[in-house]
Amino acid sequence: MPPAGLPNAGASVADVAERLAAVVGASQVLTDPETRRSFEVDWTGRFGGPSCIVVRPGSTAEVSEVVKICRDMPIVTQGGNTGLVGGGVPWQSQPDQPGPVVLSTTRLDDLQPVDRVAAQVTAGAGVTLARLQSHATQARLNFPVDLAARDTATVGGMVATNAGGLHVLRYGTMRAQVVGLEAVLADGSVLTRMSGLVKDNTGYDISQLLVGSEGTLGVITAARLRLVAAHDEKVVALLGFAGTAEALAAVDVLRRNVEGLQAAEIFFEDGLDLVRSHARLAAPLPQSWPAYLVVEAAALDDPSEQMYGALSELDLPDTATAVATDPAGQARLWAYREHHTEAVSSIGIPHKLDVTLPQSRLADFEHAVRKVVADAAPGSRLVLFGHIGDGNLHVNVVGPDPEDEAVDDAVLRLVAEMDGSISAEHGVGRAKARWLGLSRSESERSAMLKVKRALDPRGTMNPGVLFDLSG
Ligand code: FAD
Ligand code: MLT
Ligand code: ZN
Repeated sequence: MPPAGLPNAGASVADVAERLAAVVGASQVLTDPETRRSFEVDWTGRFGGPSCIVVRPGSTAEVSEVVKICRDMPIVTQGGNTGLVGGGVPWQSQPDQPGPVVLSTTRLDDLQPVDRVAAQVTAGAGVTLARLQSHATQARLNFPVDLAARDTATVGGMVATNAGGLHVLRYGTMRAQVVGLEAVLADGSVLTRMSGLVKDNTGYDISQLLVGSEGTLGVITAARLRLVAAHDEKVVALLGFAGTAEALAAVDVLRRNVEGLQAAEIFFEDGLDLVRSHARLAAPLPQSWPAYLVVEAAALDDPSEQMYGALSELDLPDTATAVATDPAGQARLWAYREHHTEAVSSIGIPHKLDVTLPQSRLADFEHAVRKVVADAAPGSRLVLFGHIGDGNLHVNVVGPDPEDEAVDDAVLRLVAEMDGSISAEHGVGRAKARWLGLSRSESERSAMLKVKRALDPRGTMNPGVLFDLSG
């Protein structure tokens, strides 16, 4: 159980709210249960609980004051609230406990001019991914991380979860884009490393320590991010296969033959059927296939020649190939992949297990997980999709009660047995904290806890996330 909300000695929630209002303005302190509601439940509807206050600071200095005022209270930092592991929302506390403070970063939305010489930009934690992307594009550069939650997910949330997304195979995860950070630590002090020096070997890299820390070490207030050349020439293909092994073999051919390959995404026949009925889409190919890939290449010069060359080496039948060289056609092919998340949520509250396997075991895992889920959650619906180019599958199970963790346990144990990781890109959050030991050794967890205790001695920064406090 996470610790109860502990208002500062002698202070009631009302006192704290009043002190916060003096710093951020009364309209940015939400105490009314109705206006707090949307901050108290996660995107999937599986996780959430009551908060005592939602506070929306508008600058780093205000974040620092907020953290100082709430120094003995649990603080949940929330960005766009698109996280999928319950890390950005309160938890179910005892009825007599007030719940944590939710610190919303959406007003930290300053976006500075692009530094074209360095190919970098400084963005406030609350800037959305879509805004960052279009800002970079206007400077004829590109922010290389992309994901379907782009309109809502924030820079701070993406750094805090080390988000992955659609272009990891070419550009790496969020971690690879972070060249500097500004953050407020648990004691209210401000840590700033924003010079953007790409080479800087002067001791521990504390900015990188905060990447993937999921709100447990401090509040990220801004990030200095690298940008890459804008590759306006694009080609997208949707391909059908007999199964995962065949799709993986195709990724190997594409990787070796298509220079600008930046996405290789998989989904399956049952997922496509669900997406088509949810989003009312026509069939992408004249025939259905057990497995599908969406692949994308982008470059300064038209990459479609190389794509066609690789496809002819693959020798796929016409009924298994659709290629788009125009933006509308490309968006149409991407829609079959990108609608998966909302299509899954449309049939119930999903158990979302985001895992990576060694590429060599991915096909075996895909078969094994179907059996494991059928045994652990009979009658449930399983939808698999993901970033096959990174060995990352999203295992979605709809049917079991949100509280029933039997299927989560069975899938994560299978992943560990097959040398995978229980979290590829969504983080550990509250959802997977009890299974951290499946992916991290005793000595790693002990070192992580020492870091946590050093930077957050009172344990108030997102308690229950990453480390299981249930005993
Ligand atoms: P939130 O959900 O608000 O928070 C997530 C975590 O970060 C929480 O633990 C929170 O406490 C912490 N946090 C947030 N802001 C800060 C901050 N400023 N300082 C410190 N801690 C903070 N994820 C992927 O990796 N790849 C995908 O392809 C992908 N696709 C998605 C598609 C859809 C449709 C949806 C709904 C989600 C998807 N996600 C994906 C998950 C999600 O978008 C990412 O995890 C994203 O990084 C979360 O950003 P956020 O601003 O919404 O963070
Ligand atoms: C995706 O790749 O679409 C996301 O990570 C979201 C999800 O897993 O549903
Ligand atoms: Zn994903």
